[in-house]
Amino acid sequence: MSPISDLNSVPGNTPIHPDDAAKLIPNLATKKELDEWERQNILEAQRWAFSSRVMKSRNPLDESYLRELHRRMFDETWKWAGKYRTRDVSLGCPFHEINERIGMLLGDAQYWIEHKPFTLDEIAVRFHHRLVGQIHAFPNGNGRHARMLADVIVEKNGAARFTWGRANLVEVGPTRDAYLGALHALDDDGNDIQPLLTFARS
Ligand SMILES: Nc1ncnc2c1ncn2[C@@H]1O[C@H](COP(=O)(O)OP(=O)(O)O)[C@@H](O)[C@H]1O
Ligand SMILES: [Mg+2]
Repeated sequence: MSPISDLNSVPGNTPIHPDDAAKLIPNLATKKELDEWERQNILEAQRWAFSSRVMKSRNPLDESYLRELHRRMFDETWKWAGKYRTRDVSLGCPFHEINERIGMLLGDAQYWIEHKPFTLDEIAVRFHHRLVGQIHAFPNGNGRHARMLADVIVEKNGAARFTWGRANLVEVGPTRDAYLGALHALDDDGNDIQPLLTFARS
């Protein structure tokens, strides 16, 4: 069991399974404390990911990078940081398909970067949506990880990072609702990309 009683209180946030919740590293009592702890952990990962050395030398479309980024974002918080989930959750594919689907997504994205069937923003936003909505690879932190990865992809390819509504999307509020609404628009027929494209630069 988790020591954090209100851990799964935020709608649109995948509930963390009790066995995963038990693998919390720091001793924290509330979701608010956890959010702040995670924020600090993520800031360290952000400094790593956007350093010019890492930006130049690493390809964010390598699977090792995708996992390393999640590990660095949550390594001081969760023992499963950087490890794919081992059970099914309400979002995403069956857990045993994660490896294969990540491979296909990274292959598609690499092809898109090389052949440009979409604008760079659309490549990164489609990548974001497939990773977070259709695969949902990790027990938690999928939204924050997939947003940072989309940011790395656009910056690596010469554009400015996304702004994602300029609000903390972990907290309940109108900006988070707008973000989830834009993700839903893509879920329904797979084609209504415009709301998420607009949101990402808002
Ligand atoms: N209907 C949906 N379609 C696609 N993605 C969704 C949907 N609902 C939620 N999500 C994504 O899942 C994320 C929540 O997953 P979670 O692993 O808890 O990430 P985090 O802990 O970073 O918020 C949301 O931020 C959003 O990116
Ligand atoms: Mg979450």
